[in-house]
Amino acid sequence: MSREVIAILDFGSQYGQLIARRVREHNVYSTILPADITAEQLRDMGVKGLILSGGPASVYDKKAPKCDEKIFELGVPILGICYGMQLGCQILGVEIIPAEKREYGRTNLSILEKNDLFANLPDSITAWASHGDQVGQLSKDFVKLASTDTCQFAAVRHDRKKFFGVQFHPEVSHTPKGSLILENFLYGICGCSGDWKMSDFVNETIKAVQKQVGDATVVCGLSGGVDSSVVASLLHKAIGEQLECIFVDNGLLRKNERESVIATFKDHFHINLRVVDWSEKFLKALEGVTDPQKKRIIIGAEFIEAFKSEAAKIANVKFLAQGTLYPDVIESGSKDGNPAANIKLHHNVGGLPAELGFELVEPLRDLFKDEVRVVGEYLGLPENMVWRHPFPGPGLAVRIIGEITPERLEVLRAADEILIDEITSAGLYRQISQALAVLVPVSTVGVMGDERSYENVIAIRAVETKDFMTADFSHIPYEVLGIISNRIINEVRGVNRVVYDISSKPPATIEWE
Ligand code: XMP
Repeated sequence: MSREVIAILDFGSQYGQLIARRVREHNVYSTILPADITAEQLRDMGVKGLILSGGPASVYDKKAPKCDEKIFELGVPILGICYGMQLGCQILGVEIIPAEKREYGRTNLSILEKNDLFANLPDSITAWASHGDQVGQLSKDFVKLASTDTCQFAAVRHDRKKFFGVQFHPEVSHTPKGSLILENFLYGICGCSGDWKMSDFVNETIKAVQKQVGDATVVCGLSGGVDSSVVASLLHKAIGEQLECIFVDNGLLRKNERESVIATFKDHFHINLRVVDWSEKFLKALEGVTDPQKKRIIIGAEFIEAFKSEAAKIANVKFLAQGTLYPDVIESGSKDGNPAANIKLHHNVGGLPAELGFELVEPLRDLFKDEVRVVGEYLGLPENMVWRHPFPGPGLAVRIIGEITPERLEVLRAADEILIDEITSAGLYRQISQALAVLVPVSTVGVMGDERSYENVIAIRAVETKDFMTADFSHIPYEVLGIISNRIINEVRGVNRVVYDISSKPPATIEWE
């Protein structure tokens, strides 16, 4: 089945991924491509339309990213956003000038023509702008569609080419009618039918995996997190018994984690699941280690050992399945060392290296996280697995400050269980992006009965975030915090004080180590 594709040419916009998601929200598949992709390649892909993203450069910068000018000969509609508009207009013969006043933030857009891009919109809307340059004077080939107080040509259309340019960002939520503008572009102008559905994705992916894998065996590291769980169930649908999942118990898991993975995957889905209990080795290797990065390195190395030793027992293994997502693909493809990619790098200890010698199967590499969840629901994974908060590869090791001991792990597990239990009962689990307990092994004084006690502190951390790069602390109601604190102090031996972490990221990270 050929699917309708909108290609987004990336000029370095911070909103590139957001544009891609917004397009997909209209059930049209979108893909982000390098700005200098050739018109021929785009023609071969059969794209229905193009979006030129914004970007930080000025079209006059020596190193400003350019696109193949022949894309304007393809005959498909093109929407230029901000820098994309300026570049498109420049290529089509319009002069771009520095604006007298830089426009940044909310602005009022007066709409002058409501035929196509602005069909069904009111006369004026709020729009989000962020630009220095702007279109100077339009040539007679262009029609002005909208303006703001400081930008005369805030939206334009070429009379003959199907080129539209907007000097604001329809993809961000600060442009409340932006979704309608994109819808007009996709359906009205590009003629997309909006038939991209998750069921199609699942069926196409199943066929592609079957073709790639043939009759070989695929191993999959299953952690119980959303991504690996969806990969496992998708592959199981595609290749059944040829899938061998490996779950490594590193001794740093939360309470009942291992049991719940076994219950879901082995007992319920009947997926081949090998549980490797490597916990003693992990804990031994971590004895006396207090440095967080050392902990990560040790855990990463042990994980690879555990995985390798189990995979070696399986015959005919040729492939390794991984839950790579679209943002990972985009980040690793970025040439100029995207800082986001670097932040992730230190978290990727716990991944598997290429030296294992397997070919990769990455069925989720076209999807965003929220789309992975939709696939998970479609495949019938339990709700608590699909909506699970992320859990770091090094597990509880980075939530115990300092040395890891079996006793400390027990304390933290018990506190964490209470925390999750209570935020779930209060109906807050889905609203919070990640909630966790941290064991802070400093002795503080408490009075228990008639005696003074010196025991550990448990810190509660709960954050709300879209991308985990920046985060705010969750405003959990005091009553709920009170219940959590009471229960932890009363039920968990070794804790006499609970504190709530109210720092935002940055500068504080989500984890404490
Ligand atoms: P920070 O603490 O950097 O975390 O704000 C951002 C997100 O990444 C997770 N995280 C990790 N994940 N291995 C992982 O697989 C790690 O070493 C690691 N450290 C942090 C963290 O839980 C949060 O979701």
